[in-house]
Amino acid sequence: RFFTIAICVTDQYVLDDKVGLGRVFDGIGGLSGGGATSRLLVNYAEPYRSQILDYLFKPNFGASLHILKVEIGGDAQTTDGTEPSHMHYENDENFFRGYEWWLMKEAKKRNPNITLIGLPWAFPGWVGHGKNWPYDYPDITATYVVSWIIGAKQYHDLDINYVGIWNERNFDSKYIKVLRDILDKVGLTDIGIIAADGDWNIVNSMVVDPYLNDAVEVVGAHYPGTTTVLEALKTQKKLWSSEDYSTFNNEVGGGCWARILNQNYVNGLMTATISWNLVASYYGELPFGRDGLMTAQEPWSGSYVVESPIWISAHTTQFTQPGWTYLQTVGHLAHGGSYVALTNGKGDLTVVIETMVYTQRTHDHSVCVRPPLPAFNVTSQNTTFQLKGSFASLAQLQVWRSRFNFKTQKPTFFEKLSPLKVNLRIRNVAHLQRSLRSLDEVYTLTSLTSGLKGSFPDPPPSAPFPTTYKDDFNVANPPFTEAPDFADQTGVFEYHINLTDPGPHVFTLRQVVTQRPVTWATDADQTISVIGNYKWENLTVSCDVFMETVKTGGVFIAARVDKGGQSVRNAKGLFYWIFSDGSYKVTNDLAGQAVLAEGPSGTRAFGWHTLTLSIKGQYATGLLNGYPLWKNAVVLGPKNGWAAIGTKSFELAQFDNFAVKAE
Ligand code: GAL
Ligand code: CA
Repeated sequence: RFFTIAICVTDQYVLDDKVGLGRVFDGIGGLSGGGATSRLLVNYAEPYRSQILDYLFKPNFGASLHILKVEIGGDAQTTDGTEPSHMHYENDENFFRGYEWWLMKEAKKRNPNITLIGLPWAFPGWVGHGKNWPYDYPDITATYVVSWIIGAKQYHDLDINYVGIWNERNFDSKYIKVLRDILDKVGLTDIGIIAADGDWNIVNSMVVDPYLNDAVEVVGAHYPGTTTVLEALKTQKKLWSSEDYSTFNNEVGGGCWARILNQNYVNGLMTATISWNLVASYYGELPFGRDGLMTAQEPWSGSYVVESPIWISAHTTQFTQPGWTYLQTVGHLAHGGSYVALTNGKGDLTVVIETMVYTQRTHDHSVCVRPPLPAFNVTSQNTTFQLKGSFASLAQLQVWRSRFNFKTQKPTFFEKLSPLKVNLRIRNVAHLQRSLRSLDEVYTLTSLTSGLKGSFPDPPPSAPFPTTYKDDFNVANPPFTEAPDFADQTGVFEYHINLTDPGPHVFTLRQVVTQRPVTWATDADQTISVIGNYKWENLTVSCDVFMETVKTGGVFIAARVDKGGQSVRNAKGLFYWIFSDGSYKVTNDLAGQAVLAEGPSGTRAFGWHTLTLSIKGQYATGLLNGYPLWKNAVVLGPKNGWAAIGTKSFELAQFDNFAVKAE
């Protein structure tokens, strides 16, 4: 039996499970974190939040992901913000911080078979004993990581399947063995270690160190450009692209995703690919804005966008499962593009074909953020697949198609076409001939009759962050530890209850990181959480503040903050500080170097003060407890940015009754 698609010369490919199979498929996934990429998702109102989760995780609906990888929060900046650790301090344990627990549970609710992975980017300072390095005390680091896994089970009934080492940083053979050891000792023998979540170099150590080789279950490489190395193959381990994509999620991003989902196996024998990131749910002006499978960055409006990578994922995810096996016949099509074929071993067959163009002239149709993409020609072609072995009896295949239509800019994604009759009914063949003539397409041909392009009524239209915003943090049992829409960029800001304080500030927001973490990025020396509309220029910000460090403490409120993420150290803006030594300062930068005004304020620790900051055009004014403290500070730049709160150093401090009124 055979079927033919397109016209002209015919190239033949034989799909046969009896000549031997390829590697076992491990799935397609998304990565939440590394860092704070799902920050705004949790603040969506229902039904929108559930809809977004359905597009990501619900089987036979949208991206229907097989894998969810999350950051093990380390209290430090890890790209688009900080994520809280389950152990801020050595004697502290709390498995209800942040949103990754919640996200894993939501994913699991929808797909009980989803594979869960945890990976640290950063660690609380105590793990490194004051050094910016997590391997000097491998037992401490491993115990810390294993406690996260145990907590996942104990408090959330989540079984973590895999754990990693230290994202895109040096691995340490000793540490990996210690981690394996401790996992085994506590009975977590089923949990696999992925290493090293960076380049392929660990394989050189694995081939000469059998103990290391034993400890590692999966070799995970990042942004491998679809290729692997000989030594990796020699380890005979599973090879994964454990982080990939990171591309703006327009159609080019969809094209990138289509190409690497196929070619990571075709060229590199990688059996899983994980997208950084899962969903772009962070302020778009932070680094790598919109580099997720879909966009959900407006909890205040409820607006979200199901982008093309969701439907490109569906081409594979809805018609395969982890545990399916690639056939031997996978590869490049003779005139460009690629195909993979997988089977469940029970006679079912799924073929995914992509013809994403990447010639010199048009390789921007599928280029990814990295690595650079060598040009390759793709032309219209005629392809015949011959079905043999278990597939010889298949009479028809279902056909799902996406067309990027870069010329007309009217793409169509994940359309179900009429089935392809394998025994060459002329009409069906003709139909496919017409449709395959253009390039930049993705096809799934499958014996499975499931598959659905899920949909909901359109979400509300996009809208800017409200110009009037208030938060008194008066929530007795907050569902999350973070207050809505605050995006921590250094330090961690949590809801706090002053149990012994009967005053008006029982419920506050508190900065809780007291020691510089083992960092992944260059966190600021100050802590800062940003909020609002990056376009804000003229506004009034006010907040009640409470320092908890005598003499050396300090807090600020700010406007026009222009940077976050890995650049947070260099953030400029208008910062109004008070200190517990009785002084104030107005600076143009987070670092506190560019001083615009300063003087005595009479401010002390362990008392509440109200700060008010107004800026209009180039002039700014500050009030303390409602009375003018300074005025007409001249601010030449930045012209716009977020509002923010923060502290002078890694110190405890509280905030209450935050309010913004922007023009
Ligand atoms: C990766 C990193 C992610 C994110 C991404 C941006 O290298 O692991 O956390 O920063 O780059 O492209
Ligand atoms: Ca309050």
